[in-house]
Amino acid sequence: MTAKDFLDTNDFTKDQLLDMIELSRVLKRCVKAGYFPELLRHKALGMIFQQVSTRTRLSFEGAMADLGGDAQFYAPGTIQLGGHETIEDSARVMGRLLDVIMARVDRHEDLVELAKYSQVPVINGMSDYNHPTQEMGDLLTMIEHLPEGKRIENCKMVFVGDATQVCVSEMFICSKMGMGFVQYGPEGHQIREDLLAIGRKNCEESGGSVTVTDNREEAMKDADFVYTDVWYGLYDKELSKDERMAIFYPTYQVTEELMDMAAPDAKFMHCLPASRGEEVTDEVIDGAQSICWDEAENRKHSIRGLLAWFCPQAKVDEPEADDAREQLNYLLEGLGKQGVPTA
Ligand code: CP
Repeated sequence: MTAKDFLDTNDFTKDQLLDMIELSRVLKRCVKAGYFPELLRHKALGMIFQQVSTRTRLSFEGAMADLGGDAQFYAPGTIQLGGHETIEDSARVMGRLLDVIMARVDRHEDLVELAKYSQVPVINGMSDYNHPTQEMGDLLTMIEHLPEGKRIENCKMVFVGDATQVCVSEMFICSKMGMGFVQYGPEGHQIREDLLAIGRKNCEESGGSVTVTDNREEAMKDADFVYTDVWYGLYDKELSKDERMAIFYPTYQVTEELMDMAAPDAKFMHCLPASRGEEVTDEVIDGAQSICWDEAENRKHSIRGLLAWFCPQAKVDEPEADDAREQLNYLLEGLGKQGVPTA
């Protein structure tokens, strides 16, 4: 049994999440080989964005096209979602007009409401709480870049910097997989206790661990993946550059010196967009240990798998279709137009 919607990876078991990744991996292989399986032919995805996006928008649009479907983009402010019309009514209408919905929202509660009243699957394209499609792209990327001889559950991620919703999301997926997860961040910018409790509960099942620290050596020791994000969330009251530099710089900037404190073949990851010169230096993001460009590409490959998993495929009722075609041809003939073939 799997949930109708993809709002939070915590709604799924480790095995279900790995099955989604396996589907993504096989579809990636198909597409890289030039074979585009039309699993979602004639299916429509609606993409609601209340915040700007490059990677998420391009990935959903491209993934839907690869699978033979269509993606409709609704820019911030161009579609009802809790304005004049209630979310409940908008959800009911969208559920009748679309086959799957993706929403990037200001408030996670709105996404939950949308999913509750829409009869079609809703995929979370990022909220103020989490970013689960980023988690899946990152999981795929880590699996493709495992240190030699290691399984995912034996790996450690250190997240350097602010407790953004991406940081929280990385804690969720790492703890689900049984990995070691550490946030290395300053007091006042560390993951909240109620969110850490979710990660710790995941660890009880998976055998992983979740820690928050401002101790540099402890955080970086043996880290296989070093991850960072901007020092201000899209959803927080934005700090001025001077304010964020005063809090995080230079201690929490990912530099070559910091990378040298991790495992010898550690990889650098970033959800992007990056503020170069703030949370990461050019040398690291453009360096040999950086896998953030593979990570960006894997947004599309993992989203293709999620769409194939969650969006119901077309089913043809052949007797009903034959009958409808016959009626259409009779009508077209009466209008002096050409009929449609049977096959
Ligand atoms: N990482 C990410 O979600 O990028 P966008 O904001 O460009 O979609």
